[in-house]
Order: sequence, then structure tokens, then C-alpha cells
Amino acid sequence: MQKTENSDTRKVKIKAFRFNAETDYLPYTKEYKMEVGKDELVLDLMNKIKWEHDGSFSYRRSCRHGICGACAIKVNGKPVLACKENAMELLDLFDNDITLEPLSKKRVVKDMIVDKADFWEKHSAIKPYIVADIDPNPTAETKQSIAEFDAMLDSDLCIQCGACHYACPALQANEDYLGPAALNAAFRFTADTRDEAGKERLEIVFATGEGVWDCVKCNECAEACPKEINPIQKIGKLHNMQFEQKIARSNIATRHAEGFVRSIRKHGFLDEADIVVYSEGYLGMYKHLKTAVKMMKVGKIHWQDGVPWIDNMPKIKNLDEVQKLIDISMTNKL
Ligand code: SF4
Ligand code: SF4
Ligand code: FES
Repeated sequence: MQKTENSDTRKVKIKAFRFNAETDYLPYTKEYKMEVGKDELVLDLMNKIKWEHDGSFSYRRSCRHGICGACAIKVNGKPVLACKENAMELLDLFDNDITLEPLSKKRVVKDMIVDKADFWEKHSAIKPYIVADIDPNPTAETKQSIAEFDAMLDSDLCIQCGACHYACPALQANEDYLGPAALNAAFRFTADTRDEAGKERLEIVFATGEGVWDCVKCNECAEACPKEINPIQKIGKLHNMQFEQKIARSNIATRHAEGFVRSIRKHGFLDEADIVVYSEGYLGMYKHLKTAVKMMKVGKIHWQDGVPWIDNMPKIKNLDEVQKLIDISMTNKL
């Protein structure tokens, strides 16, 4: 680190990911020397690269107020809104060694710019608008109460930056998965009391391989969101809505959720083998034989587990208390 005569500024080298899909075979990282002021943002660092070093450096920005979602990038792997993140704080956090990267290297078009077509396609797929049979010449507004507005939680604060979408490991493994941003939007419009397409939307997000049941509940989306929205919370709400509105049908995923509750109710512990048998049946269980052998070796399951007539799972002390908690907290009959 090199401090200048003014302690409010610092001379540093900022690294940036560079790649032009039209001309480059491989991406590379380039360093840029600059002086950073204590109030400057990551967006200012990108402006300095472009205006003082290399005019071809490309990135998106528009509002500079954290509301358009255009400037989302990663700094040392962490998704940020460049116009919201103080550069000096990040330099302190990472010992003056920061690298600017696009949200997704796989979808990069040029430097920080990614092709978000998949993001917008998924957003469109969930009908991200209010569907209602409205009077084309209304004489008054369609008002909502504060309670009705609050029911949408913070889902309406999404600025479509894509940070959660490109941080989601389920989406990286399965391109058909709708992803946290689209599912957050699905909740937002389904929870809106003015909307009439709730059932249709819940069917869309029920689809196996695409919908809410393919979320692996890793929490990465909540960690990534610069607006501190928690998409996984909305995914949980959509699960509940599907049960409440009788959209949820018996499949591996819904039976897995039921099996989880069944195991805790029965033992107070999670019976890993029972969950597999309950959700996939005895035949399905054989698909997991390799994993089962590994789990047996480390003592996570025993050979008797999954044998229907042997119940060797211990029971937790005060099981009745656990059962009461389940009854109090369950919002749906599974
Ligand atoms: S919690 Fe679900 S939606 Fe969020 S990042 Fe993980 S898999 Fe994706
Ligand atoms: S939920 Fe958050 S991270 Fe995801 S697109 Fe919306 S604002 Fe961005
Ligand atoms: S420029 Fe609009 S959110 Fe950053």
C-alpha cells in the first residue's frame, strides 16, 4: 500500500478482467495504477480505467444511485453494485488487492458486460406483471391496504441486477432452472392482491427441473443480493402457496419435504435413509447405493436403515415438545 500526502487518498493498482468475445481467444487480467479517494465508489474505479487508461474498457452503468441494476459486477468474487460500494472499504478489506470481474465469465460479451438474455427470458416466463380484468376507463385508483402491500415483503425492491441469478449454483448445474430473481418476481406478483394469475404462475414455478423444487437452499442468492432481498425466503413462500392452493402434486421433491417433517415428527432426528425411501421408493433407493455405502463407512447411516421392518433410529429426548413445535409452525397439511 502506498499512501499519498493526503491520507484521504491512496495510490493502488486495480486489476480488471478483460475479454472481448469478438476478438479475444482467452480472457486476461490487466492492472491499472490510480489514486483512489475515500469517498469514491467501485464505479469511479471503472470510470478511471476507461477515462484515464483504456477507452475500450466496457461496463454498464446508468443511475449511479443503486436503482437501475446495470452496474452489478463482482469484486474478488463478491457480487456488488459498483455504484453503491465504497472502493476504499473494499481496499481495506482485501489488503489493497482487488480484481473487478463480470457477474458471469461464461456469459461475458466484453469485460464487465454479460449477456443477460437468459435472465430476461426467465423473468418473462413467470408473467412479471399484474394480470387483472380492469376497467379501461377507471374512475378511481385500485388501492391496496398497508397490510396487503406488506404481504409482498421486500420482493418489490428487486432492481433486476442479476447478482443472485449468476451466483446460484443450481442454475449453473441446470440451465432450465428459473433461478432466484425470477422466483422472487413470481412471488411478488402472486402475493399482490390485485393479481388474478396466481394459480397459473404457481403452476409455472412448480415444473420439475425448472421451478421452486429445484432450489437446493444454499442461501447464495441472499448473500449475493445488493438490495438485501432474500429470494430463498420467497421460494419457501411459493412452496407454501402451492400446498395451500392445491397446486403441489406428489413428486420426489414434495415427498422429500413431507419425508423431512415425517422423520422429525417420528424421531426428532433426520433419518436420511427414510427420506430417500419415502421420496423415491425402494427401487429408487438403489440409485443411491454408492452414496449409501460411503455414508455407511463414515457412520452417517447403518445397514439396517431403510429396511422397512427394522426401526433402529433413536428418538430425541422430549420428542413430544418437538412434535408440538411442528404442529405450531406448520402452515400446511402435507
Ligand atoms: S438458495 Fe436456491 S435459488 Fe438461492 S442460490 Fe441457492 S439454489 Fe439458487
Ligand atoms: S433479488 Fe437482489 S440480487 Fe437478485 S436480481 Fe433482484 S436485486 Fe439483484
Ligand atoms: S448504475 Fe444503476 S444501480 Fe449502479
